[in-house]
Amino acid sequence: MRRKLVVGNWKMNGNRAANAGLLAGIVAGVNAAATPNASCAVCAPAPYLAQCQDALAGGPVAWGAQDVSAQPGGAYTGEVAASMLADFACTYVIVGHSERRAYHGESSELVAKKAVAVLDAGMTPIVCVGETLAERDAGQTVAVVSSQLGAVLDLVGERVANIVVAYEPVWAIGTGKTATPAMAQEVHARLRAQLMAKNAVAAETVQILYGGSMKPDNALELMAQPDIDGGLIGGAALKAADFLAILHAAN
Ligand code: G3P
Repeated sequence: MRRKLVVGNWKMNGNRAANAGLLAGIVAGVNAAATPNASCAVCAPAPYLAQCQDALAGGPVAWGAQDVSAQPGGAYTGEVAASMLADFACTYVIVGHSERRAYHGESSELVAKKAVAVLDAGMTPIVCVGETLAERDAGQTVAVVSSQLGAVLDLVGERVANIVVAYEPVWAIGTGKTATPAMAQEVHARLRAQLMAKNAVAAETVQILYGGSMKPDNALELMAQPDIDGGLIGGAALKAADFLAILHAAN
């Protein structure tokens, strides 16, 4: 039985004051009503990781980052190394989000190197995969997500058990259009089969999250699918009440 996981991806939102309120609201909600069957985390912009650590250390809410350099350190202006994220006690690091792939030209090969850097630093990469609308319409969904995941599986080797996968159809992100539970489950099952082919034992435990306009009113139905193990939440993660409602749906 896989434990459910709900992760907020704050993207490039927030400031110290707003974050303080959001973090306090999440902590208060989780403390008020425990979720024994679901864990949660927030992935904040890098400058606010210290704030997350101060607010969340020792409690039930984990934190993480939204991206990382594939390089261990050195002359890479503007980049953040995995060891630096580990220094702020991050549990998770999102890699390969479609916004990184689209706006920063990240290839699946680079995403795979980032996943390895995260693992090497003792954290868990949340590996994002997903097709565009044009790719879905062309019947390429499975080919696209398999190739994105395959690049990571090739590089992480036996450490496949230590990754989290997130299926985020690009056309569903921030659009209010959600994949139906059946559509999402179909892709999640294909991803599980691909993990299975790599390592059958690990594939049973790897959490595969769904992301793309997951909200309090659709979370329950999505997470009731056998291969949907939680959510990677954008917009709805910016309001404590919505994030908590999704966490409770997961539980
Ligand atoms: O990583 C989360 C994401 O891309 C989904 O965003 O706003 O559609 O929930 P949103």
